[in-house]
Amino acid sequence: MKILTPLQKFGTNLVQAQPSSDGCFDCVTPPETFSNLLHAAAPVLALAPMQDVTTLQFMRVLDRYGGPDVYWTEYFRVHGDSRPEKWILDSITKNPTGKPVVAQLIGNDIPALVRTAKLLQQHPVAAIDLNLGCPAPIVYRKCAGGGLLREPERIDAILGALRDAVTIPFTVKTRTGFSSPAEFDTLLPIFAKHPIDLLTVHARTVAQMYRPGVRYDLIAQAARELSCPVLLNGNVFSAAQAQQLLAETGVCGLMIGRGAIRNPWLFEQIRAQLRGEKIKLPTGRDLLNYIHELWDNEITPGVRESAQVQRMKKFTNFIGEGIGEKFLHDIRRVETTADFWRVCETFIDHDEPMTLEPILPPNKDGLPEKFPL
Ligand SMILES: Cc1cc2nc3c(=O)[nH]c(=O)nc-3n(C[C@H](O)[C@H](O)[C@H](O)COP(=O)(O)O)c2cc1C
Repeated sequence: MKILTPLQKFGTNLVQAQPSSDGCFDCVTPPETFSNLLHAAAPVLALAPMQDVTTLQFMRVLDRYGGPDVYWTEYFRVHGDSRPEKWILDSITKNPTGKPVVAQLIGNDIPALVRTAKLLQQHPVAAIDLNLGCPAPIVYRKCAGGGLLREPERIDAILGALRDAVTIPFTVKTRTGFSSPAEFDTLLPIFAKHPIDLLTVHARTVAQMYRPGVRYDLIAQAARELSCPVLLNGNVFSAAQAQQLLAETGVCGLMIGRGAIRNPWLFEQIRAQLRGEKIKLPTGRDLLNYIHELWDNEITPGVRESAQVQRMKKFTNFIGEGIGEKFLHDIRRVETTADFWRVCETFIDHDEPMTLEPILPPNKDGLPEKFPL
């Protein structure tokens, strides 16, 4: 299979953006760019939406490592009198990457969802996405995000209204069910009924949260049964595994979240793997440089030192899963900048290659759950 770079994929249809004087790209995500990506021969690589992580700053850092083909915003909270959150809107209007950005919504109030979708599609967004997966109790108890999976008729009504209102691509990100993966059989016909442009499946139930037992077979079922493209999401953390999942499930691409925080080289490693090239592993010192870049981008002048260190823990909690338990133990306890860097340097100031694959807790048999399929 010939793997094309994002630019080659688009050919002459690409609107090649030029950064303005402040380094931002203007209006770089015409929806047709996104549609071309979804229907290209090469698999699409997407960064998963992650609240408090997939900010403008993180997008900027990730793109320096090659980055995904398409970004998702964290969700805009939608209710009766909501307005799109400014910091999320910034990741669209000041998108520093030149790649498409999909705007994600969470909520269940149909008029508010329609109003917000119409408003957002006036900005340079590649698509409007509906969140049907958030497992946070504060969200699902209000019957939003993953909570909606308990009310399929309500999903049906929301999809109908949004599909009518959204004039650019309209996509959905779902889990496989609320309490049981058996619910997926009820959900699929609803997704099939509305002409959505893409379904992303995080192959866990809401009740499962992030525990092992990812059902890639259900994603393969969605790819077989739906006429729209399907993106696979959940526990993708290595190039070899990515290639295997693409081959086995028939999806149009992969959406990667925590694996990309942990290993910003992952998207490029997957591209190399698909081209049949040898994967280049970063060294400990490369990882240290990445953490320095995150720090430089996340730093807010005037913010308390402890708050800054706290902010970095949002990233090191995930990065640490690729380093080891002792690092995680120590970094979780630091409070000062000096201690933060002392711990990082103790563990990763070296030239050894690192796979950055997660060290997961042991399964019920006491074995490390390396491939939690
Ligand atoms: C910190 C964090 C924040 C998240 N925020 C969102 C979100 O705003 N919208 C959403 O659809 N999913 C959100 N997710 C779920 C991810 O998009 C993704 O579905 C999940 O992490 C599984 O993919 P992964 O195994 O590649 O991380 C979040 C996940 C994490 C870890």
